[in-house]
Amino acid sequence: MRDKRPRPSQDPPPGSPPGRRALLRQGLALGAAGLLARAAGAAPPAPAAATRPLPKSGEPLPLVGLGSWITFNVGRDAAAREQCADVMQAFFEGGGRLVDSSPMYGSSQDVIGHGLRRPGALARVLAADKVWISPGARGPAQIEASRRLWGVARFDLLQVHNLLSWQEHLPTLFEMKAGGRLRHVGVSTSEGRRHAELEQIMRSQPLDFVQLTLSLRDRRAEERLLPLARERGIAVIVNRPFEGGELLRSLGRQPLPAWAGELQCTSWAQLALKFVLGHPAVGCAIPATTRIDHVRENLAAAHGRLPDASERARMAALADKLL
Ligand SMILES: NC(=O)c1ccc[n+]([C@@H]2O[C@H](COP(=O)([O-])OP(=O)(O)OC[C@H]3O[C@@H](n4cnc5c(N)ncnc54)[C@H](OP(=O)(O)O)[C@@H]3O)[C@@H](O)[C@H]2O)c1
Repeated sequence: MRDKRPRPSQDPPPGSPPGRRALLRQGLALGAAGLLARAAGAAPPAPAAATRPLPKSGEPLPLVGLGSWITFNVGRDAAAREQCADVMQAFFEGGGRLVDSSPMYGSSQDVIGHGLRRPGALARVLAADKVWISPGARGPAQIEASRRLWGVARFDLLQVHNLLSWQEHLPTLFEMKAGGRLRHVGVSTSEGRRHAELEQIMRSQPLDFVQLTLSLRDRRAEERLLPLARERGIAVIVNRPFEGGELLRSLGRQPLPAWAGELQCTSWAQLALKFVLGHPAVGCAIPATTRIDHVRENLAAAHGRLPDASERARMAALADKLL
């Protein structure tokens, strides 16, 4: 059974306040600490990531997370599983923390559990999963199965996937949170689906997070949902920032605008991410990737300046012209 596997003793449960060892690791000068950590076989300290505070708690959330939908659904293919673990390691080493998955994503949860066995990974991860089952009475068993696949003590965030049976799942999640078995509660949707119902849930439920789609081309969430999230103190996770890669395939045929350099963007992927992250309601975006160079490129999008409202409008106008 996966939950019986040995865990590195230096890893506290995710979401715990950093222990003395972790604080020491992060507080030491980077070069020396990195060498010491490597010599001891531990993960080197992560560089400071660009963060935004969660609206309710003020806890800093790194602006770039990691999705896992198609990219990590690699089954038992040993080489592909190692590649996913390498991507996760590069993500954590680059300062990333939030990893998103769902029982809907085939073997992705199991593959994430595999990646979390690497030294230091459990101490870094903010584990964001979903419940996706009907009727709601089957939710607790699914959540427990997911937790075992990840190999975490508890989830940092559980979201009702695509609002499925949310009326039944949300009471379970709020009860888990009250009992200290979960840190944050949310719901997810994507690609503009069921926005009216999502708005109603955001108005009536004490959510910590909502997950939705926002991209250079798909800006529907800006109309009502993002302002409402700010008003209600709900953190926003943006899924499909590259529309599954389709956005980048279309834009990639065009040269980057000259003004991309003013925002330290060296690629369309960074421009697309900066557009999303520049909205003040957005807590983080969760691009998925199978590639280490892409995960680094995506993390780098959070550094440097983010676009203000007028720069975001210029980006949107360019996307409307090119796409
Ligand atoms: N309802 C929901 O709850 C819901 C729905 C959809 C998605 N999600 C979550 O959101 C995550 C992200 O959405 P997504 O996976 O649909 O699509 P996405 O993140 O918009 O796009 C992923 C694609 O972009 C490519 N990519 C990533 N970084 C790149 C870069 N720097 N340069 C060029 N290409 C790059 C990847 O290819 P490479 O492998 O080649 O990098 C991959 O094919 C999902 O994985 C999932 O966790 C949630």
